[in-house]
Amino acid sequence: MMKTVLTIFGATGNLMHIKLVPALIRLFKSGHLNNDTSVICVSRRDYNQEMYYEHLLSSVSPSLDLESIKNKLTYFQMDLQNPEDYQNLKKKIELTYGNDIQSLFYLAVSPEFFVEIAQGISQAGLVEKGNIRNRVVFEKPFGHSFESAKSINTQLENYFTESQIYRIDHYLGKDMIQNILVMRFGNIVFENNWSRDSIEKIDILVKEHSGIGNRGSYYDQSGAMNDMVQSHLLQMLALITMEPPKSLDSAEIRKNKIEVLKKTTIDNQSAIFGQYIGYLSEQGIPSDSSTETFVCLKAQVDTPRFKDVPIYLITGKKLDEKIAEIIIHFKEHTLANTLWPNQKPLHNQLVIGVSEYEGVRFQMNFKTPGLNDNLVETSLDYCHSCQKIGNNPEAYEKLLKDFIENTPTLFTSWDEIEASWKIVDPIDFIRETLIHYADIDDLRSKIRERKGREDIDL
Ligand code: BG6
Repeated sequence: MMKTVLTIFGATGNLMHIKLVPALIRLFKSGHLNNDTSVICVSRRDYNQEMYYEHLLSSVSPSLDLESIKNKLTYFQMDLQNPEDYQNLKKKIELTYGNDIQSLFYLAVSPEFFVEIAQGISQAGLVEKGNIRNRVVFEKPFGHSFESAKSINTQLENYFTESQIYRIDHYLGKDMIQNILVMRFGNIVFENNWSRDSIEKIDILVKEHSGIGNRGSYYDQSGAMNDMVQSHLLQMLALITMEPPKSLDSAEIRKNKIEVLKKTTIDNQSAIFGQYIGYLSEQGIPSDSSTETFVCLKAQVDTPRFKDVPIYLITGKKLDEKIAEIIIHFKEHTLANTLWPNQKPLHNQLVIGVSEYEGVRFQMNFKTPGLNDNLVETSLDYCHSCQKIGNNPEAYEKLLKDFIENTPTLFTSWDEIEASWKIVDPIDFIRETLIHYADIDDLRSKIRERKGREDIDL
């Protein structure tokens, strides 16, 4: 493999600590990355190599063995606004690694720095437009609204071609998200029932136990809507509702996802927004902030397959557990009701566990064992993470590997970003309706107090 130099901007940030470094350690350990790959860690902090290592050590779990990649990481301090610093970075890369390399960049920074860094690396000659050996990852969120995303994208087009731009949504790197297509299209039993004829409603639920941690200044600008719905939840919606692809080609999958995103709308009236009690005392949060840390939306996908099937998008922080799951509620089965009129046969339910439980549960009716004929609700369970075949890679591991190997399938195209901002941008909420919740029970009861909201399963 060609020598790879991966330069990460934002190397002292939260993402580097919690996701990128652990992913790099695992990739080097498993041999997916080897001595041909080096990582340059860029930040403005006045650290030397040793100080940077100590800085990482303070946050990376000892069980991960940071030491094992110590000699792969090189710290580089620079001022993002100083063109000379980009020149120095270029010199450093050339002197250390030569010219026959693929020079890749990861922008683990807020979107307001995307264009500045793109311009800096481009003007310094660190990347050449159209040269596929130079590719750049942009962390989410890609912009703060459709307008800002469009403006960023238009400016990036000055420096890169679309094939050099990798927009990340790490949910696409999760194994169970990739499994959605296999489940849907690899199993006739699901594919033939995957429509409004059989499906009553769908819940896409991402609950988190933790709060916003030390990301206050970023989070308060985003809220749950821009932090989670615009990217992760809408990507899940697209994979669940898209039409069958003709092939697994990334252009074909993206095309089908964009088609359903363009047909997706959210009912503004039924939106519920919440904020956990204690949010206002978090570091970096203005005392009068009305940013939402919880959101529940009812979406519709206006295609012949899914017209009028309610799709609930629910996500929030400081809830009872960390879980991401998709629940397909199938309709009641009239034949079953006729045959077992006194036994209330359950409606089938398919639960796709994305994280922390990775697997699938299918709720079915069976007969109880023994001499009676009673129906019993039973669940067929498949535990994906329990499988002994291979080690289940963490999302960032998969995506970093794909990026380095120039495989864009699990990254989002500009058209998908555009379509998803256009879905969330029109949603607004009235400050007075914000629910302040102490915990999940409090939230549940406050939602129940709202008339007609028995439709929400939380
Ligand atoms: C990130 C959000 O994209 O996803 C975070 O910015 C959120 O706020 C995280 O906590 C959740 O990801 P995961 O993989 O832990 O479910």
